[in-house]
This record gives sequence, structure tokens and C-alpha cells, in this order.
Amino acid sequence: MQSVKIQRSASLKPKPQDESKLGFGKVFTDHMFTMNYSGEKGWHDPQIVPYESVSLDPAASCLHYGQLIFEGMKAYRTKENKIVMFRPEQNMMRLNTGGERLCIPPIDVDFMVGAIAELVRIEADWVPYSEGTSLYIRPFIFSDEAFLGVHPSGTYRLLVILSPVGSYYAEGLAPIRIHVEDVYVRAVKGGTGYAKAAGNYAASLSSQVAAQKEGFAQVLWLDGVERKYVEEVGAMNVFFVIEDEIVTPELGGSILAGITRASVIELLKHWGMNVTERRVSIGELEDAYKAGELKEAFGTGTAAVISPIGELNRGGNAMKLSDGKIGSISQKLYDELTGIQRCEKPDPFGWVYSVI
Ligand code: PLP
Ligand code: COI
Repeated sequence: MQSVKIQRSASLKPKPQDESKLGFGKVFTDHMFTMNYSGEKGWHDPQIVPYESVSLDPAASCLHYGQLIFEGMKAYRTKENKIVMFRPEQNMMRLNTGGERLCIPPIDVDFMVGAIAELVRIEADWVPYSEGTSLYIRPFIFSDEAFLGVHPSGTYRLLVILSPVGSYYAEGLAPIRIHVEDVYVRAVKGGTGYAKAAGNYAASLSSQVAAQKEGFAQVLWLDGVERKYVEEVGAMNVFFVIEDEIVTPELGGSILAGITRASVIELLKHWGMNVTERRVSIGELEDAYKAGELKEAFGTGTAAVISPIGELNRGGNAMKLSDGKIGSISQKLYDELTGIQRCEKPDPFGWVYSVI
């Protein structure tokens, strides 16, 4: 296995003083991880270097054809002042799954988990202390060969940058309002929806901007063929509590296989609750709402954690949920998941990876 060369920054930046104002992804740490790929050498030259700008040829293929995938994961500070990550190997495996779809060469999962842990150790002082905060880890790979023909790049760069974060939504744990998107779609089966491909997020922006103008936090995407089945929200998977069933849209290639989603399903099963992965239409949700059977809805994601949904709005018709409060299942999941992530609760599934 290759060793990571470390070059420490000579001038360290001041850390954010007020952790309550961190927000999401606005401040970056002193160092980053970088590694290059070429056909001859494979992935090579892994280094931790001072955080700096990236220089690219204007013809670099990522700038034109978008060969770019990314991941999102977190490191947490525990009460005992240890630092841990949550299921990091899952993120690295997903980077390879998405990479395969975009012709991006695979990385060595174990090596990358170790390299990220090394970077987090170097930046340990940047991991915030307050409840609800963490160090967000953003690994990403982009193509950087200079050419204009449409074909896979011969060279790539992998970077990992770190950002101390608070909650993703301004609302924090307060329920968010979601707009059901009827006009545009984010992804279709056979497309790139299951990959964390940058282009998926570009495709989502105009709907998100329109929804935010109307006071919604994000949009709920429907399937690209019938505009009928629920898919996911901009940066999270979704769950609905209909009577005693907890249902989440099944994976079919157009939505992201969220690691929080998988963990929530495992927790609910562990508790003996009735959780199903199946197609769920917006009409079924509307009917359940009218019948008083739609009890709760929440999103799941690394950035969003468990995010209660207080309103689903389709064409001006609002489905108001849980009296604008966090529902009991959302709260239980939030407590359990964040408890495991911060080593305050037992970790029966072996999800926690110890960094320090
Ligand atoms: N769906 C989308 C589109 C996302 O960007 C994310 C965030 O990564 C998720 C779902 C949730 O995935 P995870 O739980 O792995 O963070
Ligand atoms: C995450 O939850 O890690 C994400 O990547 C979501 C978003 C910030 C794109």
C-alpha cells in the first residue's frame, strides 16, 4: 500500500469561534488530501498538503463534460474527546459504484478510508465540540485531461476537503417545508441518479431556487416516467409513516442509495418495526393524508441527519404533518443515530470507525 506524503501548512487559519454560526460548508480547514490518476501509474502520489486552489487547463474534461463525482461523510467528536467516523467504507464503496457509471477509475476502499482518517487526525482541532456539529468530509474525483472530444479522460484527481459544520437546514431540527416538483425531474432509471454525480445536482438547482422563493427548504422529486412515484429530496432520502408502516421508495437506479437510509432501515428492523422499501405514489400519500393515516415524514442524509418534514406541498395544496413538530419516530431515530455516531449509545452493528 502506498504511503501518504505529508506537507504541513506553515500558517494555520483561526478556527471558528462561535460554533452556533457554523452553518454548512462555508469554512475549510488547513489541509487537504490529493492523489492523481494516470493510465500508466494508476492512482499515485497520495499527499496531504496545505489547502489551496486547484489549477486546471481550460480544456480539462471535467469543465466540459462533467466527469465529477463526490461523497459526503462526517467525523464526530465524542464526549470522551475521541474522534470517530460513521461507516466511511460505505462512502468509498459508493464512490466506486458511481465512478463506474461515469468511467472514473476505482479507488482502493481501505487505502482511502485510512488516508481520510489520517487527514482528519491532522485536522483534529477543527472537529467542533457542540451538539449537532461535526467535521464534514468531502471527497471528490474529477477528470483533468485537456481535450475537447467526448471520451473518458485519461487522467483524474481525487481531493478530500474538510469543513466544520452545524445543521444543513436553517430550520435545524424544526420540521421543514417541502415542495413536490411536478414539472422537472432529477433523474431517470438508466441515468446517473444513483451516482453522486455533480450533474445530478446541477439539474436540481432551478427547481430548488423556485421552491426556496416560495419559502420551501427543498423539493421532493417524482419519478421521471410517470411523474407519480416519490423518489427523494434534494439532499436526502425520504420516509413516510402510513398507519403502522414506515415506507421508503425502493432503490431502482434513479435515487441515491443513502447510507443514512440503509442505517435507518436496519435500526427500524432491529426494533421490530414494520419498514418497507417499495414504490409509493404521491397519490397514495394524498389519500393517506385525507384519511388521517399519514402520520409522519422525514428525510435522511449525512448532511441532513434525520430531518422532520412538516409540510408537503403539491400545487398549492399543503399536507401538514405532525402538527409542525418533530414526529415520535423521527425523534427516536435522530436520538439513536446521533447517539451511535457520537459513541453515546451502543453500536451493535459496528458502524463507528475510530480515528483517534
Ligand atoms: N440523496 C441525495 C440526492 C443526496 O445527495 C444525499 C446525500 O448524500 C442523500 C440522498 C443521503 O445519502 P447519505 O445518507 O449517504 O448521506
Ligand atoms: C450529504 O449529505 O453528504 C450530501 O452530500 C448532501 C448535499 C450537501 C449534496
